[in-house]
Amino acid sequence: MNAALSWPCAALPGAALADRTTMHVGGRVQWLLEPANPEELARAWNAARERGYLPRILGGGANLVIEDGELDGVVITTARMRYILRPGHSEDPRGEWTLRQDPLPAAMEDSAPRLVAWAGATIPGLVGTATKLGWSGLEGLAGIPGQVGGAAAMNAGGRWGDFWDVVESVHVLDRHSGVLRELPRAECAPSYRDGGMVDFVVLGVVVRLVKRTIPEVEAKVRDYLQTKRRVQPVTEWSAGCIFKNPSPELSDGRSAGKLIEDAGAKALSRGAAAVSALHGNFIVNSGAATAKDVLALIEDVRQLVRSKTGIELVTEVKVWRASDIVRG
Ligand code: EPU
Repeated sequence: MNAALSWPCAALPGAALADRTTMHVGGRVQWLLEPANPEELARAWNAARERGYLPRILGGGANLVIEDGELDGVVITTARMRYILRPGHSEDPRGEWTLRQDPLPAAMEDSAPRLVAWAGATIPGLVGTATKLGWSGLEGLAGIPGQVGGAAAMNAGGRWGDFWDVVESVHVLDRHSGVLRELPRAECAPSYRDGGMVDFVVLGVVVRLVKRTIPEVEAKVRDYLQTKRRVQPVTEWSAGCIFKNPSPELSDGRSAGKLIEDAGAKALSRGAAAVSALHGNFIVNSGAATAKDVLALIEDVRQLVRSKTGIELVTEVKVWRASDIVRG
């Protein structure tokens, strides 16, 4: 490891990653880069590419299991890119390319209120901002942890809506050319738990909402949060839903959680990692779990469901393995 290597943004050599994920497992990475704005992220990306690395992007780590041990290469975290802007109202953050929108005429904001959120803005923060303004459209994301970049990349969501339902455009870095672009919604093809962003790093989004009253939006958020707390282990360490729901034709309409419960897989555990008693599609870490425990348990669950139903569950969580290709 070359601790003297200089980067165009804050950089930590040998950084521990476990506590940067909601599952709290995983090892260290050779370099963790912490850009403070979209331009710095682009410079960090391009500097890493020039040095022969293929960087991994870390958002809120809410849908991620990182392997134990030493990960080679570079991770770029969006944790410091947290701005949420109301075009024409918020102070512009510093930076020469600031991912902001020109102010809208008041009449237009009335019919189509927008927020700009950088990749590292948290989903709870974005939902909270919209709620305080009485702007509707993001309530279905209440209770989802993580950040805007990850939510756009994987089209986070649930029963009450998906993130891309409100995305008007997305600001990205092209992974191949290293060039910044703004993609209108019409040029994107999001689907279930997939934002269609494989060729891009998401730097921020513009979301378009609908004006309602503050009490109306608050009531919906409160309602969704209450339901979620009842059926999901929201206060425990987890990576959210482990598996995607299979197509209803394949599973007779049963969700992954229901299939796991029916297969008897809720009783499974490995070390301090256990299938949640509350919701079968969650694995919870009671404190001392390792990535090895979590990954083994994922395979145990998949295998039991396969043997009982013939259905092959597909993971929704991303896994970073020490063996991933990080140079090129
Ligand atoms: N169920 C069981 N047993 C369980 C879990 C669920 O019988 O252990 C049943 C429930 O009773 C319900 C059905 O399965 O009838 C569906 O469960 P739920 O309403 O909890 O929704 P889900 O399909 O499991 C999806 C998203 C969640 C999102 C919720 C609520 C996926 C894979 N999951 O869960 O997203 O929070 O809807 O909107 O699409 C995530 O993506 O990480 C995530 C947690």
